[in-house]
Formats: sequence, structure tokens, C-alpha cells
Amino acid sequence: MRAAVFDSGVGGLTVVKSLIDHNFFDEIIYFGDTARVPYGIKDKNTIVRYSLEALEFFKNFDPDILITACNSVSAHALKELRESASFPVVGVIEPGVIAAQKRLEKGDRILVIGTRATISSGQYQRLLRHQGFTNLISLPTPLFVPLVEEGILKGRIVEATMDHYFNGIEPDAIILGCTHFPLLSEALKGYFGEQTLLIHSGEAICDYLEQELGITPGRGTPELKLFASESPERLKEVASRWLSSDR
Ligand code: DGL
Repeated sequence: MRAAVFDSGVGGLTVVKSLIDHNFFDEIIYFGDTARVPYGIKDKNTIVRYSLEALEFFKNFDPDILITACNSVSAHALKELRESASFPVVGVIEPGVIAAQKRLEKGDRILVIGTRATISSGQYQRLLRHQGFTNLISLPTPLFVPLVEEGILKGRIVEATMDHYFNGIEPDAIILGCTHFPLLSEALKGYFGEQTLLIHSGEAICDYLEQELGITPGRGTPELKLFASESPERLKEVASRWLSSDR
């Protein structure tokens, strides 16, 4: 089985890591639109246009499924991608909400963090409310994206950024609604405490593939083909760091 994984840049490698850990696919074709990242500050029309261009690229590989690792794409372009693709297209928002449903109580305080595009779409909030979760705080936290890209995953700058965004917030769970944020898991646990549950798109999508789509894990290690619209060597360098880390 061949999966296409789309992201605005390098961040979607966190989802690839989960897919590889669970061995869902024989082959993974990853495309990061590194020339035009970030998508999280762009408007819907632009995100849809870029996503449909990425779809044209993926069509050359005849994938069995397209996974949009990018939350901003999942929030704004899923419908358009589905209308134009001849294979299933899966985003990360619905799987994240299903993971919340399975792991949280309805009264739990849930903090949803993501890019401006993802949070302003209201998609997480709408689906969570629909499932009966009422205690929601949603926050755009875009400063974390360049920090992660710089490899700054803990320490003073990360803590100051958390103080800036999270002052007075005490969540029971955090939905990591951006590809980059799983890399801050340790820092977030350090800030909020070990008891805070983190919902990671990569892990959520693996459960979704198995439980909702019936795709079985446990194949061999997939062949990973990495493509980028700019500096593919940087994508490969980040992949060799992130995919070998234990986060
Ligand atoms: N991949 C994006 C997301 O998950 C984060 C980076 C960006 O803004 O493009 O929303």
C-alpha cells in the first residue's frame, strides 16, 4: 500500500514518524511545500490552491491514500482535496477529535493549540463541541513553529513563549493541532505537569487508519521518498534527525 503524505513543510515528518513506527504502509511519498511554508498565516483560498497543486504532484505516484499531515490544510482544504482526488484523503483534525473522545471526560479542560489558520477555522472547536466537550480554550501559538524549525525544543525561549501564551491556563489535555508541536511534548509536560494529556496528530491518525479505515499495521519498514518544493536536502536532513529521535 502506498501513502502520500502532504505538509506545508518539514513538520509533517512528525506524522510520518508515527506511520513508520506502526508500519502501516509499504511506501510513503512525502511532499513538503518548503518554498511556500508557512501555510498557517495564509487565507483559505491560498491554502486550497496550494493543496490542489500538491494533489497534482501526488497523482503521478498513484497513491492508495493521501494523508494531509498539515493541520492548516486539514482545516481549510480537505473538502476540495476530496472532491478532486480519486483516492481517499484523510486529514488530522477528525482523528484528533476521535482520540479526545476516547481518552477524555466531557468536562475536561481542553486546550487546542495550532496555527492562526487552524484555530480561526474553528474546526477543532466545532467537532469537539459536537462531541459534548464544552470546556475548551483554543489558542493560535504560531511562535512555536519557527522555534521547532530552529531545533529549539526546550530552555528559556521556549518557557518564555509558553508564559506568553499560557499564562493562567491549566488544561487537563492539550490537542497539539500543528505538525510541529509533538516535538515540544517534553517542554509542554514540563510546563503544565506530567498529568496533562497530549493528543498528537500522528498517533491519532494511526488509530484512525486502523479503527475507522481498517488498515492494518505491522508491515515491514516502509520505503520513504521525500520531496520538497525547495531545498529537499534540508528536508532530508531534518528527516534524519526527527525520524531517529524517540519523541
Ligand atoms: N504544518 C503546519 C500545520 O500543521 C504548520 C506550519 C505552517 O504554518 O505551515 O498547521
